[in-house]
Amino acid sequence: MKIISSTEQVPNVSDIPTHVAIIMDGNGRWATERHLPRTTGHGRGVQTVRNVVKYFGELGTRYLTLFAFSSENWRRPRDEVNLLMRLFLNALEREVKELKQRGIRLRVIGDISRFDQKLQDTIEWAQEATAENDAFHLTVAANYGGRWDILQATRRMLTEHPQLASNPSEIAEQMLAPYLSMAWAPEPDLFIRTGGEQRVSNFLIWQLAYTELYFTERFWPEFDQACMAQAVQWYRSRERRFGRTSAQVPRQMANQH
Ligand code: IPE
Ligand code: IPE
Ligand code: MG
Repeated sequence: MKIISSTEQVPNVSDIPTHVAIIMDGNGRWATERHLPRTTGHGRGVQTVRNVVKYFGELGTRYLTLFAFSSENWRRPRDEVNLLMRLFLNALEREVKELKQRGIRLRVIGDISRFDQKLQDTIEWAQEATAENDAFHLTVAANYGGRWDILQATRRMLTEHPQLASNPSEIAEQMLAPYLSMAWAPEPDLFIRTGGEQRVSNFLIWQLAYTELYFTERFWPEFDQACMAQAVQWYRSRERRFGRTSAQVPRQMANQH
């Protein structure tokens, strides 16, 4: 797939979002409302992950990116952080075989060097095991931050092209873009955040430039198929202008449904 930058070219859009990016939020509040420990909510959230992979896979979406742990989530109590790490490790160990069989390529984006060695090794193993797959691209953002991403890209670009440091006016968007951690994927068409907060919380801040942003009050453990369908229906009602006027937009999405 040729990767198009939404700020350099108007991308083609279809009524099926090619790339969906999700902030899976509300596990803790879901549990607290039920007088359960927050960690129970995280456990329940894993089932919703399975459900969204299935739903968007069947819809025809090619890229699904899930925010699992932000670079700021280290600020949480140690026990909760440890539990989240253990859940991530267990999910990888348990699910990779099936991902492999179903043609799903798994990638992890974020600074994984801060994870313990076993988790880092398991991430590498899972990525290698599914590296040949191309039907569906599942990406988990773990110890990910949008600002980290832009910084690591800048550092790598300047390491490979040191002459740019003394000629900053030569730095163009398409020179930095290949170093961003999702350079291989089209920009997200649809962003979903469950749990009621209307913020981006340092997710894919560069890549979300022209993404349609959908927020729902539903907590992640209760984000079921009907909710997913509702988000897609909402997406289909959007007119994606990319800076143009309404009259310039091909009658592709908003007026077709
Ligand atoms: C999202 O749910 C999971 C992670 C951030 C790891 P939360 O744990 O943030 O749930 P709330 O927002 O406290 O309800
Ligand atoms: C964002 O959720 C990160 C993940 C879902 C992994 P948070 O719960 O950490 O976000 P804030 O703190 O409410 O902004
Ligand atoms: Mg939260």
